[in-house]
Amino acid sequence: MKVLIFSARDFEIPYLKKANNKHHKLTFTKESLSSKTAMQAIGYDAICIFSADEACFLTLEKLKEFGVKHITLRSVGYDNVNLRAAERLQIKIANIPAYSPHAIAEHAVSLLMNLNRKISESNRRFKRFNFKLEGLIGRDLNQKTIGIIGTGRIGSVMAKILYGFGCKLLGYDIKKNETLENSYNLEYCSLDQLCEQSEVISIHVPLNEDTHYLIDEELLHKMKDDVIIINTARGAVVNTDHLIEALKEKRIGAYSSDVYENERGIFFQDLSQNIPDDTRLIQLNAFPNVLMTGHHAYLTDEALTNIAEATITNLNEWANGQKCKNEIT
Ligand code: NAI
Repeated sequence: MKVLIFSARDFEIPYLKKANNKHHKLTFTKESLSSKTAMQAIGYDAICIFSADEACFLTLEKLKEFGVKHITLRSVGYDNVNLRAAERLQIKIANIPAYSPHAIAEHAVSLLMNLNRKISESNRRFKRFNFKLEGLIGRDLNQKTIGIIGTGRIGSVMAKILYGFGCKLLGYDIKKNETLENSYNLEYCSLDQLCEQSEVISIHVPLNEDTHYLIDEELLHKMKDDVIIINTARGAVVNTDHLIEALKEKRIGAYSSDVYENERGIFFQDLSQNIPDDTRLIQLNAFPNVLMTGHHAYLTDEALTNIAEATITNLNEWANGQKCKNEIT
């Protein structure tokens, strides 16, 4: 198959080339997919996209016109693809249902530990030979109540890790996972109860019409005023405006995130000399109790290997005329 890989980063190209083993004809472009860049796909059987790419109705219509029949995502989340339009246009879409839930959960725990124990601030002081300890007090996680919103693959690993810390676990999900109840004493409860009782809340639901702005003003008001919220899922699961108000009014303790509602067009590039004209991002960045990373939770050697291998498997299955097992359309 002739495949155009959109949003290709230098670090992932060797993984994709190795997994491909010259099987498909891969072409890499740094550009992200949009209705403007779709025409680059003329002459390709398939394209491969990531979370920064947008496969909206208009883009998909153009891709169909240009002869693209397959789109494989290098991600778990597919909120950037209009699945209904793809089905109507008979473009097959596949994702990677799991490449390393450990990578994401471990990153979420790193964010939590960094914020809680003020590691970044401590290191900033240390580098200036300032060894004062004022303002660096954190809390033991042992015996604390942690609320996990979304107890799927990543949420389950999070539960396992935090159980190891001695935490009491609350869960909220539309589907219960009995293994978590039996192995880690996780108790399912309503979202309101989880928000009211948790000292730490970690978000692991996909972004869809039910979870869009799931964390809003009403729920933020229900939380403890020293709660730490961790979001490694998708930016728009949290209402950013409501979050900023809660931070300003000191109604929550701290927020850490690997994702941001408006990250498309901002993340994955060096804008240090051309700061984005995005007031909310600038505001979030300015809070001392906000710690953000730029969608890099998935960035481990194991995850990149699995992403590359699953991408090539998806393409192989289509090329062989089989039904691709990761198809979501
Ligand atoms: P998963 O599908 O295994 O788990 C998601 C869980 O959310 C499921 O248990 C599902 O029942 C639950 N859920 C869905 N809708 C819900 C709702 N309306 N209310 C309550 N629960 C609901 O997915 P996985 O692998 O755990 O990934 C979760 C999300 O993490 C992905 O959808 C993706 O957006 C994000 N992610 C972020 C990455 C990053 O680099 N920051 C990398 C990988 C995934």
